[in-house]
Amino acid sequence: MATDCRRRLIVTVDGPAGSGKSTLAKRLARRANLRYLESGAFYRAAAWLAIRGEGDLTDPEWLAALLTATPVEVMPGQDRFFLTVAGQDITQDLRLPQISQNASLVATLRPVRQWVLTKLRALGAAGGLVAEGRDMGSRVFPEAEVKIYLDASLAVRAHRRWLELQAQGNNVSEAEVLRDMAQRDQRDRERQEDPLRVPQGAYCLDSTASDPDRMEEICFQLIQAHL
Ligand code: DC
Repeated sequence: MATDCRRRLIVTVDGPAGSGKSTLAKRLARRANLRYLESGAFYRAAAWLAIRGEGDLTDPEWLAALLTATPVEVMPGQDRFFLTVAGQDITQDLRLPQISQNASLVATLRPVRQWVLTKLRALGAAGGLVAEGRDMGSRVFPEAEVKIYLDASLAVRAHRRWLELQAQGNNVSEAEVLRDMAQRDQRDRERQEDPLRVPQGAYCLDSTASDPDRMEEICFQLIQAHL
């Protein structure tokens, strides 16, 4: 796809859960004065709606009708991302473990992915953003100037997520977090529709033994040439 010279820079950060991509994407957005776009929030919102609607989460037609009928708005900032459903701010609810698992489930359905894709492309039309997710560089913004793929060992990713949940007062065991994450990884990597994979032309980094400052520094160098 040809780059549109009228639009601003697009940076994509893809990778599995707990790899540190949200932290990295937010830091890069702030430092490069770009907007931060969290694509996972849309899949989480779809899961939130599906649970509240009490229908069959694996029924694509029911879900598609529900999503089309519900106004979902976002406010992308530089380090926060707010999402409202029918005017209600649900940003806080979106991080709950139940939502994480179900987001990964509804993300396997084509109409859900199409709904998210349309929203993300509209938000990214003018560029000027750091978009974070699983298929940002491979599917949503294949024309992005800078593509980053961030990974880390499963044990380290699960430990990070467990610490986050503890800090939020959620008393889940580390073994449970690891099991859920492994399950989600498998679903995200093996689904038919836009699975998690390294996008063509992406810079691959591993955060297992690296701290966020170092990751930011390496990636900011990559971006600087395009600012
Ligand atoms: O990034 P996250 O953990 O908030 O994402 C939640 C789920 O949403 C993830 O398990 C799979 C799905 N997702 C996706 O399929 N594609 C994306 N670009 C982002 C998230």
